[in-house]
Amino acid sequence: MANITLKSPADIEKMRAACRLAAQTLEETAKILRVGMTTEEINTFVHEYTLAHHATPATLGYRGYPKSVCTSVNEVICHGIPGKQVLQDGDIINIDITSILDGWYGDVSATFYIGTPSPAAKNLVETTRECLQRGIDVVSPKARLEDIGAAIQAHAEGRGFSVVREFVGHGIGRNFHEAPQVLHVGRKGRGIRLLPGMIFTIEPMINQGMWQARILDDDWTAVTADGKLSAQFEHTILVTDTGCEVLTAFAAPLANSEIF
Ligand code: MF3
Ligand code: CO
Ligand code: CO
Repeated sequence: MANITLKSPADIEKMRAACRLAAQTLEETAKILRVGMTTEEINTFVHEYTLAHHATPATLGYRGYPKSVCTSVNEVICHGIPGKQVLQDGDIINIDITSILDGWYGDVSATFYIGTPSPAAKNLVETTRECLQRGIDVVSPKARLEDIGAAIQAHAEGRGFSVVREFVGHGIGRNFHEAPQVLHVGRKGRGIRLLPGMIFTIEPMINQGMWQARILDDDWTAVTADGKLSAQFEHTILVTDTGCEVLTAFAAPLANSEIF
């Protein structure tokens, strides 16, 4: 695997800006979600918002991916392609946004409720949100890489859910995907030591049933092999001298992200 790049203070400023824009785009997208809209409308919003902020949607044309955002509904694990699908009351949807600003990449995603979720869907989504937070909580120069996956796996499996193995977090910077791969399963105390200046995503995909995935004929959409629900949250994280900084943190709680 290629070496892990450590970001300089100047690089980190660029990453802060790219990640802030990605997070802001997701916050604004959250506000337009409603029953009866299509995933294509989400794509149009993300595309136009990104261009209006002097950035580029990283997914558009990436290895042939045709759209400016990934929209993954219900049993879709990740890489759902926006299109004619109409969102229904009770759906859950992950929206994954990656912005390129001044040559630097910011990557963030969250799962949202469309209308009122079932108690089972809500349990999965809230547990997945907690899994990302558990992963973030261990990131510091005191930790090793697999500590992240170990924390996520313990929480997900403790709640009776499974952790997707086929897709992983990744280093990020001037490239969409860099070293290291960040697994969402692991054993505490294993893997490389984390160092200040590393930047990577943590993006656990958690399934209601079995962890195995299947790819649809469009060659992108990853669905659960058993057709049960899957949820995902993602942040881009900087390792600091004392812990970490969530570069894609939201300015305010996301609209439509939690039902009370
Ligand atoms: N944003 C995704 C990630 O978190 C990658 C999407 S690649 C695409 O790594 F081509 F499917 F858009
Ligand atoms: Co990512
Ligand atoms: Co992403």
